[in-house]
Amino acid sequence: MKKLLILMLAIVMVVGLASCGKEAPAAGSSSTAAAGSSEDNSAAVTGGGSGDTVKVGVSMPTKSLQRWNQDGDNMKKELEAAGYEVDLQYAGDNEVPLQVTQIEDMISGGCKVLVIAAVDGSQLGSPLAQAKEAGIPVIAYDRLIMNSDAVSYYATFDNTKVGEMQAQYIVDALGLETNKGPFNIELFTGDPADNNVNFFFGGAMSVLQPYIDDGVLVVPSGQTEQAQASTEGWNTEKSQARMENLISAQKYGPSGTKLDAVLSSNDSVAQGITNALVTSAGYTAENFPILTGQDCDVASMKNMLKGLQTVSIFKDTRTLASQVVTMVDAILKGTEPSINDTATYDNGTGIIPSFLCDPVVCTIDNYKALLIDSGYYTEDQLQ
Ligand code: BGC
Repeated sequence: MKKLLILMLAIVMVVGLASCGKEAPAAGSSSTAAAGSSEDNSAAVTGGGSGDTVKVGVSMPTKSLQRWNQDGDNMKKELEAAGYEVDLQYAGDNEVPLQVTQIEDMISGGCKVLVIAAVDGSQLGSPLAQAKEAGIPVIAYDRLIMNSDAVSYYATFDNTKVGEMQAQYIVDALGLETNKGPFNIELFTGDPADNNVNFFFGGAMSVLQPYIDDGVLVVPSGQTEQAQASTEGWNTEKSQARMENLISAQKYGPSGTKLDAVLSSNDSVAQGITNALVTSAGYTAENFPILTGQDCDVASMKNMLKGLQTVSIFKDTRTLASQVVTMVDAILKGTEPSINDTATYDNGTGIIPSFLCDPVVCTIDNYKALLIDSGYYTEDQLQ
C-alpha cells in the first residue's frame, strides 16, 4: 500500500513538472506553424510584452504613396492596442538621410524593437549596426534590408508570387496558350533600390520569358532588362514620361501600333502609364491594353472601375501589420516568432527568417468582396 502511494505521488510530480515546463503561447501570436526552424538571431528583451509601455519604433519610407500611410496607421493602431507605445516616423518623400536620422533617434529614444520599411535597403548599415550594438532587434517590413546582420526577421507578402500573378493574368487574358499572337507588350517595374523589385520583375519574367522567346509576345521597344524597365521612386510622373516616350517611339495608339498589354509592378507606376495611354495615345476604356498593378490603391481602383486599368494585386496591409505585431510580441517575450519561409530571402549576410503573407488577384469581378465587404474601403472612397 505504501509502495503504491509513493508510486502515485511520483507520477503526480512528473506530470506536474512536465506541464510547468511548457511555455504559454505568446499573446496574440499566430497559430500558423512555422515551416522549418529559424536560427535564433533574435535578442530577447527583458521587461517587454503587452501591458508594459515598451516603445516600438516604426520607420516608413514615404508619405507620398497611399500604401505606406495605410501601413503606418495600421501598425500604430495594432501595436497600441497590444499595449505598446509607438514612435512612427515617415522618411519624408523617400529621403534616405532622414530615415537614417529617424532610426538613430528611435535607438537613442529607447525603442526596444525596430520595424523598418527601407527607402533604400542597402543604405541602413550604419544605424542598424548601432541597433545591434544596443541589443535592439530589427524587423524588415515589406522590403528586405540588405547587407546588415542586424536584421532578425522579415515580414512581407510573397513578392515572387505577386510578379507571377501579374504575368499569369496577362497570359490568360491574351489566351497565349491557345492563341498564336504575336502580341505587343511593354514592361515596367519599380525602384532599383527596392529589393522587392528583383522578385516582382523576376517572378513576372519567369512566366513571360518563354512566350517572348517563342515570339508569341513581342516587346517592340526591346527594353526587357530590369534596369530598363525600372521606375525611380516608383514615381507616377516618371512612369508616365517613359510611357510617353514609348508611345512616340513605337507610334502606339488605337489607330497606330497595337499595344496589347503593359506589365506594371505596382499601382503608382500603373497610374502614370494610364495617364500616358489616355492623354498621349488616345486610348479609352473600349480599346485599353491589359494593364497590371499592385496594392489596390484608391486611384488605381477608380481607374479600374472606369476600364483604365485591368488588374491589381491586393496585399491586405491589415494582415501584414497584424503579423508584425505578433512578431514584435514574440520577440519581446523571448519566444520564437511565427515564420513560414527560411529559404528565399538572403540579405547578403545569410537567410533572414521570413513570414510571407498571401497576395490576391483583384479585378472588377471580385473587388467588392475583397475590398468593400472586408471593410478595406467604403464604396464611396472608390467613386
Ligand atoms: C511594395 C509595394 C509598393 C512599392 C511602392 C514595394 O516595396 O512592396 O507594395 O507598391 O514598394 O511603394
